[in-house]
Amino acid sequence: MERTSEFFRRCFGHAPRWVVAAPGRVNLIGEHTDYSGGLVLPAAIQLGVTTAVAALSDSVVLTSTKLGPGEPFAPDGGGAPVTGWARYGQAVAAELAELGRPPAGLTATIDSTIPAGAGLSSSAALEVSIALALCAAADFELKVLQLALACQRAELRAVGKPCGILDQAASVLGRPDTAILLDCATLEYRFVPVPDEAALLVVDSGVEHSGEIPGYAQRRRELEHALALVGATRSTEVSEAQLEGLDPLSARRLRHVISENQRVLDFAAALEERDLAEAGRLLLAGHASLRDDYEVSIPELDLLVELASDAGAYGARLLGGGFGGSILALVDTARADEIASAVTSRYREQTGRDGRALTAHASAGATVRR
Ligand code: GLA
Repeated sequence: MERTSEFFRRCFGHAPRWVVAAPGRVNLIGEHTDYSGGLVLPAAIQLGVTTAVAALSDSVVLTSTKLGPGEPFAPDGGGAPVTGWARYGQAVAAELAELGRPPAGLTATIDSTIPAGAGLSSSAALEVSIALALCAAADFELKVLQLALACQRAELRAVGKPCGILDQAASVLGRPDTAILLDCATLEYRFVPVPDEAALLVVDSGVEHSGEIPGYAQRRRELEHALALVGATRSTEVSEAQLEGLDPLSARRLRHVISENQRVLDFAAALEERDLAEAGRLLLAGHASLRDDYEVSIPELDLLVELASDAGAYGARLLGGGFGGSILALVDTARADEIASAVTSRYREQTGRDGRALTAHASAGATVRR
């Protein structure tokens, strides 16, 4: 926050009027379940996007500390589509206009501490941060999950990704040292404490999410087709018995989601009992299911999961949508650094790639400071 305010002062010569912080997320478990009304267990993290807002203006003028000035756009998100990173902002403004936000413009600087492409939801944090800034500037209030839903729709509008609510919900609902057990159909949630001895180690494979959006959209279509075949509207209504007689692809896609929903409940129970061995076992089962039934892994992520287990993690799995990005390993807090360096050095030996590691801390959700 301080860095963004400082950058702002250098650009504008005075202090910002609002400073908004929106975190990225890790998802402890519950992958590819959100868009079928399934269960997820994310946590907001200490890294995020900070937006420092000046007073009002006729348009929305955003400048990124890393990416430079974005193309300005109208406060209601209308007009010709802008190109570059500011399209996320324009899409958010358009979604908020549909919810009745008065068309107030603003000038703001934006800073992100989330490594791009690591599967920590930098785009959701950007959307939530801009949404809160736009709401503050127009004195317009939304319930946090309504704001998250608007940002989810903005992701589709901006880059054509038909994502679920996982990333944006985690960014607004986060609490320190806590994961969020969210039912993506009803949007009911409860908090699950993350024990101190459990460290969430994220290791980035360094492989870009190539073909991520088409691959993601295809999985979503396949799952929706499979759900229609069994006559269900949400994945938590489907049982193993209903998979019988389905074509093999539909059966695999549905089997992942049904088993993953159950793993979310079991993982939450394991955390509450501080049974990290059981939690780790569930992560490994989740990875196998994402690899074999949902087919969203790549060899580098499979290797990282194996290396993390060999180095002493309780368990690990690919994090986020797959097709590249990171793994999440559950490790003993006291051993986090040692395991991180063992995994990254063996990964380098075997692939020639640098795997960046960081420990994610379950942290507070988005805030607006006046
Ligand atoms: C991406 C999407 C989320 C979710 C995950 C997979 O992060 O943005 O909505 O579907 O993939 O769990």
